[in-house]
Amino acid sequence: MLIIKIGGSVITDKNQYKKLKIDNLENIINELPKKDFILIHGAGSFGHYLSEIHNLNGGILNNEKYFSIVSKDVLELNNIILDKLIENGINSISLPIHSFHIVGSEFNTNLFEKYLRLNFIPVTFGDIILNPKTGLSICSGDQIAFHLSKYFRPEKVIFVTDVDGIYDRDPRIEGARLIEEIKGNDNISFGKRGNDVTGGMENKFRVINGIVKLGIPVYVLNGNEKGRLFNAIYDKEFVGTKVMP
Ligand code: IPE
Repeated sequence: MLIIKIGGSVITDKNQYKKLKIDNLENIINELPKKDFILIHGAGSFGHYLSEIHNLNGGILNNEKYFSIVSKDVLELNNIILDKLIENGINSISLPIHSFHIVGSEFNTNLFEKYLRLNFIPVTFGDIILNPKTGLSICSGDQIAFHLSKYFRPEKVIFVTDVDGIYDRDPRIEGARLIEEIKGNDNISFGKRGNDVTGGMENKFRVINGIVKLGIPVYVLNGNEKGRLFNAIYDKEFVGTKVMP
């Protein structure tokens, strides 16, 4: 099986509150397999936009209303994605982690496994969850990808992002080169971009390393470009980076 995480910045415009990039979303969903994978999506501007303004990363600080709004907004994005998946013949079931996971406790994979066995595609997303220390906090879809990888040991994990892959230096520096294949190691830089309360690319790289250390290959590619996800899924040649154990 596969685990696929669609970054929120590919399917939404992170600078505009709740602004969908519908063409990208439809293209990506078209390229997905019909069975045997778990789909995780990010929040993009359905999550990061208000989280940043109202400091949701710092826990509950008189901002309860915005926790509620963001929690609802990410569900709204999830619902749009489910609609598109079902339209495309992908029988999916939403498993929002706020309804069963608390920061610090073991991640429960039970329902994911049961739905997969029935040939449904479990869909989950970066979410607002209970946190025993701060009340509530934000859990990124990348972190969820790690928890699920630990249990399911997928063939590979694919991160669909808004950059071509991993570069040998900050991609904004002239001469930066896209790396086609690397062994997991800590000395690779993604460069930072945009507003992102879950730590942007640096955090993503920590998660990628964690997954690779489990012995699972991780592919990083650009979801703005048609065909790359499809090729990566079926192990045809694709523009992007393979991080190998
Ligand atoms: C963020 O999830 C969740 C919220 C802000 C509520 P992600 O960190 O997975 O989202 P993207 O992929 O960066 O948009």
